[in-house]
Amino acid sequence: MTVMSMRILTTVLLAARFAAAAPLADFDQGVRVTPLLEDARRGAKSEPASDEGPLWINLGNSDLALVRAAGLSLGSPLSMSGSAAVFKVPAGLLPHLSDFMHETFGRCGGFFAHRTRVEAELALSARAATKGGPYTLDQQAWVSPLISRVEEEGIRSTIETLAAYHNRYYKANSGVEAARWLQGRWQTLAGGLPGASSRLVKHDGWKQPSVVLTIPGAEKTEEVVILGGHLDSINGYGGEAARAPGADDNASGIAVLTEAVRVLGASGLRPRRTLQFIGYAAEEVGLRGSQDLAKQAAREGMKVVGVIQYDMTNFKGSGEGIFLLNDHVDADLTAFLGKLIEVYAGVPWATTECGYACSDHASWTRNGYPASAVFESTVDGRNRAIHTERDTLAASGGGAEHSVAFAKLAVAFAVELAKASSAASVPAELTRR
Ligand code: BES
Ligand code: ZN
Repeated sequence: MTVMSMRILTTVLLAARFAAAAPLADFDQGVRVTPLLEDARRGAKSEPASDEGPLWINLGNSDLALVRAAGLSLGSPLSMSGSAAVFKVPAGLLPHLSDFMHETFGRCGGFFAHRTRVEAELALSARAATKGGPYTLDQQAWVSPLISRVEEEGIRSTIETLAAYHNRYYKANSGVEAARWLQGRWQTLAGGLPGASSRLVKHDGWKQPSVVLTIPGAEKTEEVVILGGHLDSINGYGGEAARAPGADDNASGIAVLTEAVRVLGASGLRPRRTLQFIGYAAEEVGLRGSQDLAKQAAREGMKVVGVIQYDMTNFKGSGEGIFLLNDHVDADLTAFLGKLIEVYAGVPWATTECGYACSDHASWTRNGYPASAVFESTVDGRNRAIHTERDTLAASGGGAEHSVAFAKLAVAFAVELAKASSAASVPAELTRR
């Protein structure tokens, strides 16, 4: 017997032994078990599973191929789509399937678990139906003059302001004050655009709100393009009262978004689709703010064309350019980001892997939406000062040069995904410089 088949046998035996004891909630860490649309579909009735009983999993085809290649049998699929399949499995198998994926492939398994077959199959069709593309690149007349207005100074000053809060911890008053400051800043910068307004979104269970700026689309108002990053910070060792400047993680991402809001706000652009800029609360404690917002969006059936996540942009860990995360993201949208960088950002790009649901893009992906994420470096070359009192602007070199290309990409993403309304033409003063 090979080592591999021994491990599979052990896995299955363990699964059988622990089937009754395995708690359902425990395999949420790092594994996608979101009952997609579960809340929205509460009416759907079919054989409900008990904790010992079966679950229905929705497994991506690429993961299925890996599981099969490793000799683990899940039986025949009950149904399949172009990208995933539904299997009935004992509940106790899931933690072991997750361990198996980790041990064998060094990463999380790409499955969603559902309590009923109906939900698993609804999610299967939702997975196929929620693709945001095709993504097209045809807004150069707007994007080119706008990206030339992006300034390092704007980004640097926002990082300085946010890092000056003692911390932006989700339970701290200073974390609430930082959110309020951001809401006001986005309102000031974008308030001149028709209908634009920013608001604080409260969450149950902690005091820090998320910040949402909405610039309503002039034509396809119900289709939404989202640019986000987390506004909270954390000192991993010090707790609530400890200093956590979070200059790189993630004042930098919020500063990049704020620079894009400044440029768009002064442009006279009317987007065809609705644009939302989001500063998420409570990312550092389990993507909690973004999970609330993405779940709410799924519950309401919100149409999201694409989501981009900015988390850490200012530390030049492994050289020039923009790094695209390649896990927990939408492959088509990520490929499109590569094109936008080539055409507009003027820097090289490469992909890198987090290996787990490391930031808020994963909340959107979990809820069936096309999401991508950009990063400052390869994950190996990351800033080691994050989550400490040493995550200061000085530790990232004192300036914001590395973030400039990220802000150009944000402007390009906003305009190329939302598109300029046909009613508005590029103002002459934008093309003269
Ligand atoms: N910005 C980090 C994620 C990150 C760090 C990505 C380094 C790549 C390299 C994020 O704010 C964070 O700390 N996330 C948590 C996970 C979350 C689910 C609590 C983490 O990585 O521990
Ligand atoms: Zn962090």
